Amino acid sequence: MKLHVLCWGKLGAFSLAGVICNSVEKKIYVNLNNTVPCVRLLNATHQIGCQSSLSGNVGVVHVLESEENLEWVLSSGPHPPYVVILDSPLFTRSVMMKLKNGSRRVAGIAVVAPNANPPEGFSPHTTCPNENTGVYSEDYDPIFAHCNITVWNPLGNGLSYEEFDFPIFSLKDDNETQVIRQCYLDHNRAANGTAPQYPLCAIELFSHMSAVTDTATCMRRNDINFSISPEIVCDPLGDYNVWASTRPLNNTAKGHKMWESVVIAAARLDSRSFFFDIAPGAESGVSGFITLLAAAHALRNATQQAPPNRTILYTLFQGVGYETFDYIGSSRMVYDMQNNQFAVDLNNVHSFLEIGQVGLRSDSKLWLHSDQLSRKNTSVNDEVCFSALNSISVGEVGFSQPLPPSSFQRFLRAKPIPGVVIEDHQSAFTNRFYASMYDNAEYLNVSYPSNLTLEEQLEWVTDTAQVLLLLTNIHKSTTADAKVNMLWWFLNQQRPVFLHTIMNFFCNLSANRSTNFYVGVNQHSSEPTLLVQYLLANLTGSTVNVTQDNCQNQREDEDDKESKHMYYYMWVQGAAPPNSTEREGFCTRSTVRLSKALSPAFELRDYTSKEYSTWTESRWKPFKGRIFLVASHDLEMLTLGIGIGVLLTSLLLTYIISSKADMLFSSGREPTNATY
Ligand SMILES: *[C@@H]1O[C@H](CO)[C@@H](O)[C@H](O)[C@H]1NC(C)=O
Ligand SMILES: *[C@@H]1O[C@H](CO)[C@@H](O)[C@H](O)[C@H]1NC(C)=O
Ligand SMILES: *[C@@H]1O[C@H](CO)[C@@H](O)[C@H](O)[C@H]1NC(C)=O
Ligand SMILES: *[C@@H]1O[C@H](CO)[C@@H](O)[C@H](O)[C@H]1NC(C)=O
Ligand SMILES: *[C@@H]1O[C@H](CO)[C@@H](O)[C@H](O)[C@H]1NC(C)=O
Ligand SMILES: *[C@@H]1O[C@H](CO)[C@@H](O)[C@H](O)[C@H]1NC(C)=O
Ligand SMILES: *[C@@H]1O[C@H](CO)[C@@H](O)[C@H](O)[C@H]1NC(C)=O
Ligand SMILES: *[C@@H]1O[C@H](CO)[C@@H](O)[C@H](O)[C@H]1NC(C)=O
Ligand SMILES: *[C@@H]1O[C@H](CO)[C@@H](O)[C@H](O)[C@H]1NC(C)=O
Ligand SMILES: *[C@@H]1O[C@H](CO)[C@@H](O)[C@H](O)[C@H]1NC(C)=O
Ligand SMILES: *[C@@H]1O[C@H](CO)[C@@H](O)[C@H](O)[C@H]1NC(C)=O
Ligand SMILES: *[C@@H]1O[C@H](CO)[C@@H](O)[C@H](O)[C@H]1NC(C)=O
Repeated sequence: MKLHVLCWGKLGAFSLAGVICNSVEKKIYVNLNNTVPCVRLLNATHQIGCQSSLSGNVGVVHVLESEENLEWVLSSGPHPPYVVILDSPLFTRSVMMKLKNGSRRVAGIAVVAPNANPPEGFSPHTTCPNENTGVYSEDYDPIFAHCNITVWNPLGNGLSYEEFDFPIFSLKDDNETQVIRQCYLDHNRAANGTAPQYPLCAIELFSHMSAVTDTATCMRRNDINFSISPEIVCDPLGDYNVWASTRPLNNTAKGHKMWESVVIAAARLDSRSFFFDIAPGAESGVSGFITLLAAAHALRNATQQAPPNRTILYTLFQGVGYETFDYIGSSRMVYDMQNNQFAVDLNNVHSFLEIGQVGLRSDSKLWLHSDQLSRKNTSVNDEVCFSALNSISVGEVGFSQPLPPSSFQRFLRAKPIPGVVIEDHQSAFTNRFYASMYDNAEYLNVSYPSNLTLEEQLEWVTDTAQVLLLLTNIHKSTTADAKVNMLWWFLNQQRPVFLHTIMNFFCNLSANRSTNFYVGVNQHSSEPTLLVQYLLANLTGSTVNVTQDNCQNQREDEDDKESKHMYYYMWVQGAAPPNSTEREGFCTRSTVRLSKALSPAFELRDYTSKEYSTWTESRWKPFKGRIFLVASHDLEMLTLGIGIGVLLTSLLLTYIISSKADMLFSSGREPTNATY
């Protein structure tokens, strides 16, 4: 500890001290390894999220025991600023806003993520998701705008949309947290109300963000910086939508297609939570798109043998983040359809079926939501085509309600199209963990008897999958395959072998963690996009006997120039036969394509757009968190003083010596050529 203090006072004067300090530093600091921060996002008018100062924020550890205990942090504690350690029951709006307003005395917050979900529910999203970017507005059914009739997410506390000017990290509740708690108990705990003595346990959190103010500001900074050095401060949120059609569509010929009539079957791909990088989105995203994939699989045979009159367009939207970021993916597809940049246009769209949150619990009932204005409209009414859906446990919501937040709203904004949204709630969400880190496999109760092997687990039909089968049967398909038990693939930690066989070798699936459905920034397609792209191709496509070279060049043989317009070919690595380690790859032919899910606002360079999403994400340097002991400020000052004193003395001495050098060293200088 003393040596560390010496470091602070050394001012680089003695390189020897520097060497000692470096080796000592390693012993004093304990790096926190399992931390996830909250990051900075910007839209047309605001910045939200968190950040540290350029050099990181340091504060004395305070483990908050109750809300009353905040008083110590906000006023009475003698050693501010504090880094507050919160257990998840205290991670509430009330506590967070008090800390936000007392930010002069708060250096940062670390939230301990519990190992079990809080029974009372938790949602850091707003109560009215995507309030301003759906279809309801002053011009369209104003009575429904701003959740006037139905508050969709009553548990929402809005924390995800607040701005904090200190870092907030999430910690796993494991030995690491134990180290912090112990350090706090040993050094910082105020015994009987008396102030604890130095040295104190402190934490440094580093999560500096490059972008400030709003999207227009940071995009301007990007442009300026780019002309000097390619240094980017923020990136638009975005990724790729994944789509496929039951009948191949010429994807080279964009715009309206005569005679084509498509039914869009949609779900959303992404999710988010308060913290960057933890977005399991089990109910809010995965349940819906898994159902869609299962349905596509179940319908494959039927649609290949007797193509239906209408083409089904399976579409998975990215960046709608349960519409979190203002419908990035769906608004872009509508924009592309309006501008002849997509294989079909809006006039080709016959109707819309969206699968929203379908919790897939065995007791859950499903509800059909539709929009009264688009249904009132003309022939649309009897066209509300999915009357077949009126079976078994599906209920229909009356006209008295608006559509829940859904990608369909973005299509309705452009054109009155008949359609329905399937949800597991009649009015407010049944999801108690909407857009939070607790919306996970545990919440959906995806569990398997633990004595099954990995491959056996795949065959295991849980309650979840049974509801899912029910839903796919609604599509009047033949019997669906019990293997559609895919929820588990996405939500569990270990990836089944199957997934590796259908992917290309370069798709390095991240090991030992469940998939994160936070929509990334638009450089390349993210892991969920890749997974879903390959899965959809496997589930709806067919294998063709084509060489790897031809497959990768999008052709069936050397002379084939036409197929690439209609199909997409993917070489996948396949499995190794029993007595070999060499995998046997094969070529999958499908209609699966990616389309950009980048908000049109960035295409139009309209960074203050009211029509389109303007969300950007700041760039940052690697995050860091570490704990260490700090000495008293006075002691540091004393050491600093001594350091400066020593420095000044040595400077003075050097000056005296050099000015008197002639006198001091003259005798030694005379025989210049003798000593060498
Ligand atoms: C909200 O709904 C009520 C009826 O429930 C209606 O009287 C009122 O005008 C609505 N407010 C707006 C702003 O549309
Ligand atoms: C930007 O985000 C803030 C915080 O969520 C919100 O209040 C504001 O309305 C948003 N601005 C636009 C133009 O969407
Ligand atoms: C956590 O601590 C327990 C008991 O102190 C120990 O048994 C366990 O191995 C530790 N786990 C890790 C990952 O260090
Ligand atoms: C973090 O990892 C390093 C190296 O593996 C280890 O020395 C350190 O103790 C870990 N930190 C905590 C708090 O466990
Ligand atoms: C705190 O006070 C109690 C009773 O007032 C006393 O028994 C205890 O020893 C005190 N603890 C410390 C650390 O002073
Ligand atoms: C697809 O469209 C492109 C461009 O219009 C055209 O060159 C090609 O022949 C078409 N292919 C088929 C199979 O229709
Ligand atoms: C589709 O057809 C193939 C053979 O034509 C059959 O093996 C497979 O089980 C069928 N799949 C479904 C889901 O019906
Ligand atoms: C499909 O098209 C055929 C021929 O155009 C027509 O006879 C049939 O009624 C159509 N089926 C449906 C369900 O519209
Ligand atoms: C797993 O355990 C259950 C009961 O605990 C038993 O009924 C089942 O047969 C076991 N399965 C295997 C594959 O051992
Ligand atoms: C899907 O994956 C399975 C397992 O690797 C494979 O047997 C099957 O041929 C694949 N189907 C297609 C269409 O690629
Ligand atoms: C694939 O094509 C090659 C060359 O055309 C042929 O030798 C081989 O038998 C084919 N394989 C299958 C499974 O049809
Ligand atoms: C696997 O081994 C058997 C017997 O050793 C052999 O007959 C067979 O050809 C082998 N298969 C492959 C794909 O190498």
